[in-house]
Amino acid sequence: MWRPPLEGVGADELEIRVAVSDIAQWEGEAVVVNLFEGVEVPGGATGAVDAATDGMVAAAIAQGDFRGAFKEVLVLPTMGRIPAARLLVVGLGPQEAFTYDRAREVSAVAAQTARDRGWRNFGTIVHGAGVGGLDLDRAAQAVAEGALLGLYTYEELKSEKGKGMPQAVTLVARTQEDASTVEEAVHVAQVVADATNFARDLVNTPSNRKTPRELAARAQAMAKEAGLTCRVLDEEEAQAEGMGAFLGVARGSDEPPRFLVLEWKGGEGKPVVLAGKGITFDTGGISLKPQEGPLGPMWEMKYDMAGAATVLATLKAAAELKLPLHLVGLAPCTENMPGGRAQKPGDVVSTVGGLTVEVENTDAEGRLVLADALGYALRYEPQAVIDLATLTGAAVIALGKKAAALFGNDAALLARITASGEATGEAFWELPLLPEYEDQLKSLVADVKNTGGRPAGAITAALFLKRFAGDAPWAHLDIAGPVWNDGKPPSPKKAYLPKGATGFGVRTLVELLRSWPGAA
Ligand code: BES
Ligand code: MN
Ligand code: ZN
Repeated sequence: MWRPPLEGVGADELEIRVAVSDIAQWEGEAVVVNLFEGVEVPGGATGAVDAATDGMVAAAIAQGDFRGAFKEVLVLPTMGRIPAARLLVVGLGPQEAFTYDRAREVSAVAAQTARDRGWRNFGTIVHGAGVGGLDLDRAAQAVAEGALLGLYTYEELKSEKGKGMPQAVTLVARTQEDASTVEEAVHVAQVVADATNFARDLVNTPSNRKTPRELAARAQAMAKEAGLTCRVLDEEEAQAEGMGAFLGVARGSDEPPRFLVLEWKGGEGKPVVLAGKGITFDTGGISLKPQEGPLGPMWEMKYDMAGAATVLATLKAAAELKLPLHLVGLAPCTENMPGGRAQKPGDVVSTVGGLTVEVENTDAEGRLVLADALGYALRYEPQAVIDLATLTGAAVIALGKKAAALFGNDAALLARITASGEATGEAFWELPLLPEYEDQLKSLVADVKNTGGRPAGAITAALFLKRFAGDAPWAHLDIAGPVWNDGKPPSPKKAYLPKGATGFGVRTLVELLRSWPGAA
């Protein structure tokens, strides 16, 4: 059969459709069904396809070619027995271990199989929603997200793009009623996955192409498209706001800093403020990092603006979903460089709120820029403040690459963040803000110093931030580990997480805001 050459399409151009049909009768290049591990006689949709293909799935199981192990794949030609030319069966693993996150992963595996084999489209059932007993809407969201996240690649700087990308995935529902549920879920998934991939793009972008000025321009372009407002404070304006800690970090670079203020007014009242660390490259400054650090090479420090990227992406999604909330997103963006006018260890800077900080180590710059962002956040009399930052190597030592460290002063807020993470397959683990360790931040010459030594490094960093967070309900997410996948252990191997930027945090925050009290 002659086929037109494949057009170059990226994952963000993948179209997710919804159809009402019998999956066995769906017309397209391939149909995708599934199997729980150990099932010998397939039921549900898989059973229907098995029956329509004269027992091909059951035969494969019987002769030991397929057992339904998690992420196992079986591809069979259908030889005219059903309209689709081929059948893909994906293994779901043991039924009792199945989760929404596994549905997301399995869907990514199916999409990647399609891409690798050059299929331009396929129809799939909503994994887990039938025999698996998952809620149809949440399962459909997970399946759509899995395809959109799993096909992501960062190829902006490659000459050849979008090779062999599928163009459309169709979720096949049995009834019109189911299709309406699935359509709504697909809309949410599309927004959430686009936002996550937007964050991934920013984080993967090399630092010479995402200077603070460039990041500000991208934020403004995004804001315009999504219907947000975006204000950009330059050095002079930051000075006028009293952001001495932020500007102190920026001194070492020839690239001027930018402080971004995004706002979504989907509701009245006090805002929820999100603040993200936006270090577009972290050399360490005068306290220069080594070429090969204990946690990775220096070039990876291009991801030190992942907190800012998460905040921008979350506001984008909130606006696109028209969440009935007042939201403010803050992103202090600067390089941390060891230039001739750079701040030096022992320097003292003053912050928005008036507290003075001794800069004991210029490599502890994230907490400096966040001190001013938190101080600025308080001007909104926020109902809650959440900051995100690739703040400490100590958080990676404590929790590895799977979980973010979580801190805060409000148990209910932390519980909701943890629950939102569980719902989206992102792990957060609370560490204690032990007041005894505050002594480690005592300075001889200023109100506080920016390092507390190696013991409990993630905790003392959080305790430092607490000094600037005021009395509002506040949560601090140290995302240094999970935002970056270097492809080696202990980076988790999830099918929808590519190498490089993972976009960690976006899905949890969107889930948190969608279920925010009073916003449902
Ligand atoms: N951006 C780093 C933290 C980091 C390190 C994230 C490795 C991901 C991987 C941060 O600015 C930093 O350098 N923190 C120092 C703090 C120390 C000097 C108190 C650290 O963790 O070593
Ligand atoms: Mn640093
Ligand atoms: Zn840093």
